[in-house]
Amino acid sequence: MTDLLAQVDRNRLPQHIAIIMDGNGRWARDRGEDRVYGHYEGVVSVREIVDACGELGVGYLTLYAFSAENWNRPKAEVDALMELLVNTIRKEVDDLKKNNVRLHVIGDFASLPEMAQKEMGEGMEMTAMNTGLNLILALSYSSRQEIVMAARKLAEMATNGTLKPEDITDEVFHRCLDTALFPDPELMIRTSGENRISNFLLYQLAYSELYFTPVHWPDFRKHNLYEALLDYQRRERRFGKTSEQIQKNNIPNV
Ligand code: FPP
Repeated sequence: MTDLLAQVDRNRLPQHIAIIMDGNGRWARDRGEDRVYGHYEGVVSVREIVDACGELGVGYLTLYAFSAENWNRPKAEVDALMELLVNTIRKEVDDLKKNNVRLHVIGDFASLPEMAQKEMGEGMEMTAMNTGLNLILALSYSSRQEIVMAARKLAEMATNGTLKPEDITDEVFHRCLDTALFPDPELMIRTSGENRISNFLLYQLAYSELYFTPVHWPDFRKHNLYEALLDYQRRERRFGKTSEQIQKNNIPNV
């Protein structure tokens, strides 16, 4: 593992990594356990990956912890996930504070149970002064809904005369998204073998490098993150240009 870490070029790290943490249920089923057991073990991976990103100096880590569609799961699983989120934040907030991690939440905050809103709210408040890793939890999150809400905000401003339609630019649009404060992810990782985006950061992932791994989330640990980073660093990001243009201008692969 130290070998892998030694190969990671610290000067060409993505500033923002986004992760779809998939496969908790399958991981648990493979062990003859209840799905919730997979979510519990998934929290161990969350801790490792947050640590690793903090150590490396990554600026932003967004974790898809609960999608708007996840409300449709069996009630017992939804309740267990909410309880796990609340307990994890309660348990970890002192360490987050100590490790200079700042907590943020994106998604439909008001739809979360009161207890989760309270715990997340306190976690964000307690870590608001931190200047290291920004840990962004996507909770009750739907990217389409986020885009629709942004369109609605812009339409309201255009209607009440505070914004002209021709002044709506990519930048103005971005400022209306939940992720207004964050740069777009350069790297998106999805575990567990599914090659889909599943309504996650659809606007923000426009130019992201996508990394899919068959490893289930509860097995995804530091060395798996280093492997993803090495794969990312081997890629050439062209943003529509040719390879020759990129090499001539020596645009860094970040
Ligand atoms: C997807 O696996 C995982 C989730 C829907 C929940 C992820 C949540 C955690 C890992 C806990 C997060 C905790 C914090 C504090 C961020 P799945 O259940 O869809 O797995 P499957 O596809 O194998 O059924």
